[in-house]
Amino acid sequence: MRTQVGIVGAGPAGLTLALLLKQSGIDSTVIECRDREYVERRVRAGLLEQNTIDLMHQIGAADRMDREGLRHSGVYLRRPGHTQYIDMVNLTGRHIAIYGQQEMVKDLIATWIDRGGDIRFMASSVELSDLDSLSPLIEFTEGRRRIELRCEFIAGCDGFHGVSRTSIPPGVLKEYDLVYPFSWLGILAEAAPSTDALIYSWHEHGFSLYSMGSPTVSRLYLQVPVDEVLEDWPDERIWGELQIRHASEGWRVSEGRIVERGLTPMRSYVCDPMRYGRLFLAGDAAHIVPPTGAKGLNLAVNDVRLLAAALSEWYEQGSATGLDRYSETALRRVWRAQDFSNYMTQMLHDTGEGPFARRLQLARLEYLERSEAAARTLAENYSGLPATDDF
Ligand code: APR
Ligand code: PHB
Repeated sequence: MRTQVGIVGAGPAGLTLALLLKQSGIDSTVIECRDREYVERRVRAGLLEQNTIDLMHQIGAADRMDREGLRHSGVYLRRPGHTQYIDMVNLTGRHIAIYGQQEMVKDLIATWIDRGGDIRFMASSVELSDLDSLSPLIEFTEGRRRIELRCEFIAGCDGFHGVSRTSIPPGVLKEYDLVYPFSWLGILAEAAPSTDALIYSWHEHGFSLYSMGSPTVSRLYLQVPVDEVLEDWPDERIWGELQIRHASEGWRVSEGRIVERGLTPMRSYVCDPMRYGRLFLAGDAAHIVPPTGAKGLNLAVNDVRLLAAALSEWYEQGSATGLDRYSETALRRVWRAQDFSNYMTQMLHDTGEGPFARRLQLARLEYLERSEAAARTLAENYSGLPATDDF
C-alpha cells in the first residue's frame, strides 16, 4: 500500500490532520490500534479554545459542536470567601466551549469516513522504519495480514504512550520532564451543574475543579496525593470534600450518581525536536501538560494546523521551509502552554512546599482580582493566543 502521509493515531491530532490534508488534496491513511467504539468512548477533558472551535469550522466538522457544545465566556477562580469571574470575552474578545473530546473524535471520524477517508482501526504491532529516508514505512497487522504502508511522510499522532516517539533513535531527542507530587481524582456524575461556568478552587485541603459535560452531567476533580487509591474514596467522601473545597455561602455543588471515576497523575513533558527525518510528531506524542490549564487538546490541534500548512507548502510549492520550521514553531506555543499550565497548577494546588508557598498563592489570586492586566494575561492564555506563528 502507498499513501502520501501515513498518520499514526486517531485522536484529535491525527483525525484533524487527515481532514486538513484532504482539503489541500493530500492523501493520507490513518492507522489506529484501538477499535472505533473505544476511541469514541474514551472520556477526556473537552475545553476548546477559540482557535480549536475555528479549526473545527474550517474542516466542516462543527455542526454538532455548535448545537451541543456549551459556549462559555469565562471561568471562576475561587478561594474561601472570594469568587472572581475571569471574563474572557471582555478581556480578550475570545470564547471557550465545553465539548467532550470523545464527541469531537466521533464527529471527526464520521466526517473523515463520509469524505471517503481511509482509516484502519485495530491495527496491531504497528512499527515504523526508514524514517530518515524519502519513503518511510509503517507496518501493521490487520486481522491475519501484515500490511506495509509506504509513505512520503509519517505523522506520529499516537499520544504519549504511542510507538512514534520511541521509534526515533536514542540520542536524537532532548526530553524535558516534570512530575508533580499529586494526582487528580476525577468523577463524572449525573447531576445538573449548579454553576454556569467552570470553577477553579484554591483550598487549604488542596485544589478542586467544577466542570461539566452537558447541562445534566457534572465533571469534578479533587487534588489527591500521588499514591492515592480509589478504594479510599467512597462516594460520601468525594462529595464531602468537593462541598468543602468549593464552599461558597448559600450555594452547594449539586450531587448525583457517580457514573465514572479515575485518577490522573500530573506530569509535564516536552521532546525537542518534534521531528526525525520524515517523521513529524504532533499532540501528546510530543508533549503533555497537567490539565489545570486545559491546554492538551488545544495544543494537539495547533500542532496539526502548523503541520498541515507545512505539508501543503511542500506539495503545492515544493518548499520545505514550513517543514523545516515546524518543530521550532510548534514548540514556541508548546512552551507557552507549558508555562501557563505550570502557573495554573502551582497557583492552585497544595504543592507540599509549606505555608510560605501557600501564602504566595493567595497573593497571586488577590493580584488577579485587583489588576486587570493580570486577569487579562490569564485570560489570553486560557482562551488561547491567536493562531499565528508568533506564539
Ligand atoms: N499505533 C496506532 N495508534 C496508536 C498507537 C499505536 N502504537 N498508540 C496509541 N495509538 C492511538 C491511541 O489509541 C489514540 O487513539 O493514538 C491515539 C492518540 O490520541 P490521543 O491520546 O487523544 O492524542 P492526541 O490526538 O495528541 O490528542 C491530545 O488527548 O490525552 C489527551 O489531554 C490530551 O486532550 C489531549 C489530547
Ligand atoms: C474537564 O472538563 O474535564 C476539564 C476542564 C478544564 C480543565 C480540566 C478538565 O482545566
